[in-house]
Amino acid sequence: MYTPERERELIELTRKLLKELPGLKEAGPKEAEEYARLLRDVIRYHDYKYYIQTSPVISDYEYDQLFRALRDLERRFPSIVTPDSPTQRVASEITGSFPEVSHYAPMLSLDNAYTEEELRDFDRRVRELTGREEIEYSVEPKYDGAGIALVYRDDLFVRGATRGDGEVGEEITANLRTVRTVPLRAEFSSFGIRLIEIRGEVLINREEFRKMNEERMEEGLTPFANPRNAAAGSLRLQNPAEVARRRLEAVVYQVSYVEPPEKFPKTHWEAVEMLHLLGFKTPYGDMKLCRGIEEVIAYCREWEERRDTYPYELDGMVVKVNDRRLYEVLGFTSHHPRWAIAYKFRARQATTKLVNVVFQVGRVGTVTPVGKLEPVQIGGVTVSSVSLFNEDFIREKDIRVGDMVLVERAGDVIPYVVEVIKEARDGDETPIEFPENCPSCGSKLVKLPGEVAWRCVNIACPAQLVLRLKHWGSREAMDIRGLGESTAKALYSKGFVKDVGDLYYLKITDLVRLPGFAERSALNLYNAIQESKNRGLDRVLYGLGIRYVGLTTARKIARVVDSIWDLKEMPVERIIRIEGIGDIVARSIREFFSREENLKVIRKLERAGVKLRKTELEKEGPLKGKVFVFTGTLTCCSRERAGRIVESLGGVFSNTVTSRTTYLVVGRDPGRTKLTRAKQLGVKTITEEEFLEMIREYVNPEDIGKERREGTLF
Ligand code: IVH
Repeated sequence: MYTPERERELIELTRKLLKELPGLKEAGPKEAEEYARLLRDVIRYHDYKYYIQTSPVISDYEYDQLFRALRDLERRFPSIVTPDSPTQRVASEITGSFPEVSHYAPMLSLDNAYTEEELRDFDRRVRELTGREEIEYSVEPKYDGAGIALVYRDDLFVRGATRGDGEVGEEITANLRTVRTVPLRAEFSSFGIRLIEIRGEVLINREEFRKMNEERMEEGLTPFANPRNAAAGSLRLQNPAEVARRRLEAVVYQVSYVEPPEKFPKTHWEAVEMLHLLGFKTPYGDMKLCRGIEEVIAYCREWEERRDTYPYELDGMVVKVNDRRLYEVLGFTSHHPRWAIAYKFRARQATTKLVNVVFQVGRVGTVTPVGKLEPVQIGGVTVSSVSLFNEDFIREKDIRVGDMVLVERAGDVIPYVVEVIKEARDGDETPIEFPENCPSCGSKLVKLPGEVAWRCVNIACPAQLVLRLKHWGSREAMDIRGLGESTAKALYSKGFVKDVGDLYYLKITDLVRLPGFAERSALNLYNAIQESKNRGLDRVLYGLGIRYVGLTTARKIARVVDSIWDLKEMPVERIIRIEGIGDIVARSIREFFSREENLKVIRKLERAGVKLRKTELEKEGPLKGKVFVFTGTLTCCSRERAGRIVESLGGVFSNTVTSRTTYLVVGRDPGRTKLTRAKQLGVKTITEEEFLEMIREYVNPEDIGKERREGTLF
């Protein structure tokens, strides 16, 4: 649709317009018409980049400035409005790959406030229109994900859709059914509701997002810029099984339509409370009722401070008038309701200069270009380097050394180059030359068919060896405290260790010779290495660093094989039959075992006494044959985490109570549906304490809480 030249033109035009926006307030009719035309062109282009290609080239903030400018011009000179102006409709994200459905109530967007003053203006308008002295607001986080609408009829989840153009969305019920936090049944009938449409957001938490991008990079795909793009992209996959693997979550925050209408909850607070009680994930625990706008401002400030510690990306707070009776007088503009506003947090983008590019060799030989930046503050953090991922990424964005670049840091995620500011070029910028040889060992780099990454395939490449050692010692693999990158480097350069097998033959007398090591630290490392022999098969499989075998995959494999030697004998067709393992992973495993040098390492490990087989107990699993369902909030960890613990002990984790369920574990504020069903079917209910008692022997209590401290709970 857009040629590269046209894209470049539009990006340059965007920059120019953004610079000239402040002057537009004084524009006369002729000038206004001309500017409006240009603004429409660039806004249409950015809509296309955002909604269709899901790879925006400007920040939301900048987009908003453009949109506002156009809207203001059109308001001042109504005769210049054209029927196809972006202000005359809500941008569409429809791609044509899914059936279209009409929403019960239009999905409008929210007006934005960037300053406290703009919040006060909003409050003033609300008070004027309603004639009230003081307004009660309900304030909640604004999730930065992909908008969805869910419909429940007679308590069943019957339809899920994307926002689309606000009137018509794409029907993605099958995909949404795979999202664990979308209940397939919810007892709206207990509130007298026959049919309900609710709004929400599909999200990926930061930890999952990080893992997903790591995997994408391993597979030679360009990572997603931020969790929002990842969520939006995942929702539109054609294969629901693949969607299920993405670990999406859904949070719901708005009731938009109810039948019969008199059952519509009277306040926003009550609406969210109802959703919360029915087992949805909601902002309930993070919501606050505020009297007057000053309380609202204080709450927004508080959240701006803590947004980084929240497990999901937030881009602001949403302020909603609580009493629904006031909605009627307030009404809507063509784009948004007048009873709500989004307070946007400070943007996490900045421009800085790319001063150099270095090339790093990863654990599996992938060569990654890393951009060195003139240090810049983004949301309180100094950013001085940025991954440029691969050659295609550099070519696509035409990144050159010396360029000014727009960098985004989404939460604690690695900083990302959103775009190059080409207008800032003075001709001294130099194209980035990709090396032909490995920067560590000098061997020729290769690009494998279908991959975007250049790779060093020398199995003895020092950079890779050191990273493999480090990976083996990492917390999630063999957890060898003291075996970080610098120790791994020292062990390699002293010639003590060439592969992970050698670690187990090290003597204390070797270790004291490492730089910075004394007797005590040598002894500690020695003990840590010895202790790591019993970590279990899954950790060994992960630690070996087989391409595409992450921790989750390793666990899945370890559940079905009894020893590493079993896996070695398995043909690809058999490996594929393991749940959740595809063709690429299976082939990579086969390839790993077909190399004699890898088998040598495994034999070395076995001779040293590293456990590569399951014990009898592990084979069975202490929870074998037992089916667990959880309801309510657990204090130990999230339900998902508890489920994974159950699975790791041989039990089955399910979300629905059936006659096969062995235990329903009841946490705080349990859902009524599951409890009632358990009673009907005579399923035993146990408390969280009883559950923890059951698994105490097998799981380290510290490990259970890990996820909670990282904050996966709402
Ligand atoms: S309420 C008519 N509440 O932000 C009002 N929206 O910029 C309906 N969003 O389209 C929206 N968190 O996708 C609402 N707590 C929240 C939200 C939220 C995120 C999204 C939503 C909306 C967009 C508007």
